[in-house]
Amino acid sequence: MARVLVTRRLPEGGLDPLVDAGHEVVTRDDDTPLTKDELCATVGAFDAVVCLLTDRIDADVLDAGAADRLKVVANVAVGYDNVDVRAAAARGIAVTNTPGVLDETTADLAFLLILGAARLAADAERDLRTGVWDGWEITEYLGVDVHGATLGIVGFGRIGRAVARRATGFGMQVVHHTRHDTGMPGWTGDLDGLLGAVDVVSLHTPLTDETHHLIDARRLALMKPTAVLVNTARGPVVDEAALADALHEGRLFAAGIDVYEREPEVHPRLLSAPRTMLLPHLGSASVATRTRMARLACEGAIAVLAGRTPPNLVHP
Ligand code: DGY
Repeated sequence: MARVLVTRRLPEGGLDPLVDAGHEVVTRDDDTPLTKDELCATVGAFDAVVCLLTDRIDADVLDAGAADRLKVVANVAVGYDNVDVRAAAARGIAVTNTPGVLDETTADLAFLLILGAARLAADAERDLRTGVWDGWEITEYLGVDVHGATLGIVGFGRIGRAVARRATGFGMQVVHHTRHDTGMPGWTGDLDGLLGAVDVVSLHTPLTDETHHLIDARRLALMKPTAVLVNTARGPVVDEAALADALHEGRLFAAGIDVYEREPEVHPRLLSAPRTMLLPHLGSASVATRTRMARLACEGAIAVLAGRTPPNLVHP
């Protein structure tokens, strides 16, 4: 039996696999992220850590694990930029994530943002709720059409492909960019060319050194002034200040954003930007999906603790 630390509250039933496997599970009543000092002070007493994307598991935290005791860090997210995977590998600690179980839910949310941003739903709803709306006008809340538009998907993994499937139902043309040729119709290696050609851009890349500020002021300037940008990937993939400037100055038509550079902070100029739908990082937030994510993370930890290689092992 191993001791497993679960850093934050998980959806109901999410921990069942660990309990059923007979491990000692230590949970917290508090649903706030542990500070780095708290993580360092805690991790030494555990064989496994089930953590969330709000936990920064860096080399110091890994070093605070008792030598030869900490075996696995199981991240309840598909993105794992919060974990230093290289440092973990160097210390013989496995890292797992939750691929495959959140693709459709996150793609639904990306499509919500595409539609909501293009049709100015957030601005219009705010006006209605605050009493600004004073009746129907033929020139009010004029958005851009999603049906028939061209969608550029940047990053064409499982979530990007799930967004593409939805787009065909809306009669959209779909092109996608990845560094390496996917061999699929619509691929381009030319990101700048894609940005200048499409009506909607949806981002689905992981956050790495290469994708940090992938969409910066220069690339925003390549986009059509009628275009819509949607980000459900990771905040730092977009230069938030540059995006806010483009929206305020009318150089970009609209944006739908679910993830931010310094969560939970949002750049004040993005908060005040027009034609912008902002959501609080809820791409995978359905009861079923978040429960599946928690269970998959636990299953990854169980496999490593049993000396098996889990299918959701992250490689550095
Ligand atoms: C992830 O899994 O990486 C998402 O951002 C949270 O659902």
